[in-house]
Amino acid sequence: MIGIIDFGSQYTQLIARRIRELGVYSEIHPPWVDLDSVVASGVKGLILSGGPMSVYDENSPRVDPEIFELGIPILGICYGMQLLVHIFGGRVEKADKREYGMAYFEVLENDELFQGIPCNFVVWMSHSDSVVELPEVFKVIGRTRDNPYGAIRHKSLPIYGLQFHPEVSHTDYGERILSNFVFRITKSEKNWSMEKFVEDKINEIRKKVGNERVLLALSGGVDSSVTAVLIHRAIGDSLIPIFVNNGLLRKNEAVMVLETFEKLGIKVYFVDASNRFLDALKGVVDPEEKRRIIGHTFIRIFEEEARKFGRIKYLAQGTLYPDVIESISVCGPSSRIKSHHNVGGLPEDMEFELIEPLRFLFKDEVRKIGRILGLPDFIINRHPFPGPGLAVRVLGEVTKEKLNILREADSIVVEEIKRAGLYESVWQAFAVLLPVRTVGVMGDERTYDYVIAVRIVESVDGMTADWVRLPYDILATISNRIVNEVRGVNRVVYDISSKPPSTIEWE
Ligand code: XMP
Repeated sequence: MIGIIDFGSQYTQLIARRIRELGVYSEIHPPWVDLDSVVASGVKGLILSGGPMSVYDENSPRVDPEIFELGIPILGICYGMQLLVHIFGGRVEKADKREYGMAYFEVLENDELFQGIPCNFVVWMSHSDSVVELPEVFKVIGRTRDNPYGAIRHKSLPIYGLQFHPEVSHTDYGERILSNFVFRITKSEKNWSMEKFVEDKINEIRKKVGNERVLLALSGGVDSSVTAVLIHRAIGDSLIPIFVNNGLLRKNEAVMVLETFEKLGIKVYFVDASNRFLDALKGVVDPEEKRRIIGHTFIRIFEEEARKFGRIKYLAQGTLYPDVIESISVCGPSSRIKSHHNVGGLPEDMEFELIEPLRFLFKDEVRKIGRILGLPDFIINRHPFPGPGLAVRVLGEVTKEKLNILREADSIVVEEIKRAGLYESVWQAFAVLLPVRTVGVMGDERTYDYVIAVRIVESVDGMTADWVRLPYDILATISNRIVNEVRGVNRVVYDISSKPPSTIEWE
């Protein structure tokens, strides 16, 4: 395993991904991690990530200098390298010339780190501080035109520093450099594959759960679905997946999810609580109030259903690695705690031990596992869908009639985006029902009907987003179909706002 110490770089997760792509397992730790436990976990090498701070800032993150006495190879990247220099007694200063973007790198020493790589290549830089004096025990092994200390290594220990980012795709041979570090320098072996992960996890869950039972809130999204199938492989019908229809799902969604799980041989406990949710939402127009009511109602129903099964020891959740990292990272600009993955707020007398088998995986790894486990593409490639469902896409008060109109319009949007081959390249594509009526003319008759807004965005993580420049003819088809096929709608508009300043959802 390779350990990565996270100093808050936007690229930390990317480093972890790159190492896993090489077939070696990697884990991210905060700077204050207990080194003994890292060593005990069998780590073969450590990478010190980049970060937004300066090493001479008072509150900048540090590592325990003992790390250099463990005898484990270390690679410091950007801030990680500057920290090495600082700790070993060299000097780091704000550079006269900041280096951002492309730089030409020249290898000065034929080190193992550069095996199989030409002497000159392009690297990606992103730093404002620079090393200005090396500690005595270090030497330079590569440079760029503006930076005489582009790459350094300890004279006798396997400790390296790179000022550039080998993990980003703009650095030529970046993968080769990381691979040299992992295989030649740390002598790690290729032993990480999704197939092996699945096999190990199944055995681990089986051993842990024994004769107990596991409860799971199945939403039909990829995370909870993969969690369900994985645990079912381990313990069969001791898994109790509960799927609640809150009446706010998309067209045919409940049926499709239930059919999928039936085909997989997994018994799902289906609760149709549509009316309860709709009753609770009657007269409510405030978006946050809708969310609160939906969350509360869900927990109450989940609790009632769970109690029917008697005492249950475990609760499974589809928490992913980015959520776990986000909640421990203090330095990164992206520090943030997400709560909507958790079935938080369960009453205290229902104490569960958590099982989170996807806790160390990235989304695309979860998708791979889904495929290995035989989940259909319909589940694996689905767009994110908010917990409060269509309630935040029917603006204003939610009624059965409006939900039905929205469902039909939404399914046309998704169908046409799929037909155009764009479904997998956009982040989300959906319809929103606006609480206004406008005048139209159909045949020879005046109409006075609802407006549908079409929202199609591209995004990497949902934090920022931009509207998709959809070809006019696809927009035209979507608009024509909605107005012709959905009763109650006579106008369609396309949302051309980015996030920020707008958000992806309208409520
Ligand atoms: P916004 O609208 O904040 O959405 O730009 C960002 C992403 O989060 C989803 N979203 C939610 N997901 N519960 C959820 O589980 C919510 O209340 C919620 N609100 C927004 C949204 O679909 C997008 O992917």
